[in-house]
Amino acid sequence: MNQDLWTAVDAFVGDALIPEDDALTAAVRSSDAAGLPSIQVSPAQGKFLHLLAKIRGAKTILEIGTLGGYSTIWLARALPAGGRLVTLEADPKHAEIARANIARAGLAGVVDVRLGKGLDLLPAIEAEGVGPFDLVFIDADKPSTPAYFQWALKLSRPGTLIIADNVVRKGALADPASTDPNVVAMRRLHAMVSSEPRVSATTIQTVGSKGYDGFTLAVVNG
Ligand code: SAH
Ligand code: DHB
Ligand code: MG
Repeated sequence: MNQDLWTAVDAFVGDALIPEDDALTAAVRSSDAAGLPSIQVSPAQGKFLHLLAKIRGAKTILEIGTLGGYSTIWLARALPAGGRLVTLEADPKHAEIARANIARAGLAGVVDVRLGKGLDLLPAIEAEGVGPFDLVFIDADKPSTPAYFQWALKLSRPGTLIIADNVVRKGALADPASTDPNVVAMRRLHAMVSSEPRVSATTIQTVGSKGYDGFTLAVVNG
């Protein structure tokens, strides 16, 4: 482990490629000031999500786990005119801060922040026909990640990109003896994806200012 080096490289990449942006800076500052946990994606990861959404040409995005809306803003900025992002957040304070941050970013008309537990809200999203979604970002309570993946599939169409955050968990993903419910869930996610003919997937390990972790990327086959 070399956290200082990973942080330094993320700072270098941020300076070089991700210029300071008032709305994103304010989103992090107001989230910190309100006492929200500082667990949002890093700037480099946020921009990566933004690029994935652009590459996919996503017009509809679903996010599960909003926090203060930092990743939400990155993703929503990739949408074309008329695009729409729905984000689900269980904590009322997080949702309130996120709505303010999203409005400050000029995205209030694009982003729908829904308050409630993901698994409680998803049936209504299906019933309303809000989807299908071109991109789903799963980043909420980790033990529910396999269940969110099933929902993402249900709300998908061919070509949909499903991304799950925090799957590598400092390498614990490879430990079959782990009893950590977060790790068990991410191992179950891999078993599920592995036996799911509807998707093609990989997992990428990452290091950076947030430590050692990684994400799973799955594309729904066309
Ligand atoms: N995507 C954000 C970070 C999300 S942190 C970013 O990168 O900027 C995880 C969020 O999931 C927290 O705000 C937490 O309150 C929320 N959460 C926890 N359990 C949840 C649930 N069951 N349903 C929806 N959100 C949940
Ligand atoms: C943590 C990091 C995350 O990206 C997340 O979504 C939840 C928790 C963490 O470092 O604790
Ligand atoms: Mg995360």
